[in-house]
Amino acid sequence: MRRRQLLSYGAISLLTPWPNLLRASEGASPWLAPATSQSGQFKLAPQASQWQLAPELPSTDIWTYAENSFSPVISVQQGDTLDVQVTNKLMESTSVHWHGIRVPNNMDGVPGISQPPIAPGESFNYQFKVDDAGTYWFHPHINSTEQLGRGLVGALVVQESSYPVDRDEVILLNDWLVDEELNIIDQFSSPRDMSHDGRFGNVITVNGKYRPTFHLRPNERVRFRFINGATARIFRPSLPQQVKAYIIAIDGHPIEPKPYTGQLLAPGMRCDIVVDAGSTASETVMGDTAYEPTGICRWLVSGQAVRSAPLTNPPPRLSDNPIAKPDLNRAIDLELRLDGGAMTMAMMKGMQSGQYWYLNDQQIDQDTLLNKPLMSLQLHQSYRMKIVNNTRFAHPMHLHGHTFQILQDIPYWTDTALVMPGQTTEIAFVADNPGIWMLHCHVVGHQASGMMASIEVV
Ligand code: C2O
Ligand code: CU
Repeated sequence: MRRRQLLSYGAISLLTPWPNLLRASEGASPWLAPATSQSGQFKLAPQASQWQLAPELPSTDIWTYAENSFSPVISVQQGDTLDVQVTNKLMESTSVHWHGIRVPNNMDGVPGISQPPIAPGESFNYQFKVDDAGTYWFHPHINSTEQLGRGLVGALVVQESSYPVDRDEVILLNDWLVDEELNIIDQFSSPRDMSHDGRFGNVITVNGKYRPTFHLRPNERVRFRFINGATARIFRPSLPQQVKAYIIAIDGHPIEPKPYTGQLLAPGMRCDIVVDAGSTASETVMGDTAYEPTGICRWLVSGQAVRSAPLTNPPPRLSDNPIAKPDLNRAIDLELRLDGGAMTMAMMKGMQSGQYWYLNDQQIDQDTLLNKPLMSLQLHQSYRMKIVNNTRFAHPMHLHGHTFQILQDIPYWTDTALVMPGQTTEIAFVADNPGIWMLHCHVVGHQASGMMASIEVV
């Protein structure tokens, strides 16, 4: 297998024409309704189920959070309490981690650190107040290569009090590694994948569907929330140049709206864009241009116009979330070195154990996460961390329980820093959430083979 080369920019014009071989499925994701409207409680039931990646094709055995459904969307208002009852209908233990949103430690969903695993047949109730608005997602935090690889992902949307768009759609991106009969190939942790760039699928889907169609109306303004829920693949959602689109948020948090030119989304990362449908009937193919450009979904504009003329004003800036700003003058410096992986000397040491990666020269297994944090941070102290990537691969480094800033000309908030091969990225944050928190690469095969650790905030 040749090394996958990330393209340096989005060459959308290279997109292959849309094939008409398959009947398209409807793109929209299933937004979950609370179990009863009074309780406001959502129910998730991780289970084996069947799912059609495309109409007219054989169905695929997947694992999912709701029967005959894939990647449900849970939506709550900022400031509300999220209440989710999870009942495990799988044959193995699981958990739910709420990726990117700040939660109290005992709601973080990491077995062995913040809660016991949810055994088959058992339930766990996640309940916490959501302080931050934006686009987040959820997934298991146990046997992640397999549980995510079989389809256990969902979207968490936290709504601001109001935002002037006509529609709100989630675009959860992932890929599936399937054979010719569309059965998931069940080798989830091959040494080759884990020591290189992870397990890539051969079918890319949007909300679990191969090249689905969204139906828009003339002059409609739509907010698309991209989520990369893949185990390894990086995406760059791209649009043809003539489409009017603005990016308004990265990883849940507002940025100054600017024309959208394609955002690199590594596993775990999100961005929100606002698109104007245009006044005439049309068809638009959305592509992925991170590697070989390919179409991933499309929208059709037709029917009754939403308003008489298209909106011309750019979308407004969202309000900031209530996150403490790090004080860079008093920040304590930290360093996180990423080593190992294929094509390095460091990897050789780990060959026997199947552990290929190192964080600060250490390899930490599940049992030592709790008792041997890589770093111990003081509550309310500001930190600046240099993440130094000495490997030949890109690593989206994710910190639980905190939102940090990427330090660059215009800093921005995130929970996952994509550090390219040979590069150093500086982040800063206030350690304001007590507990033991995971710090790991979101290429889940890397996480499972050495690229994970914990930090404690006391
Ligand atoms: Cu999205 Cu530790 O996870
Ligand atoms: Cu990695």
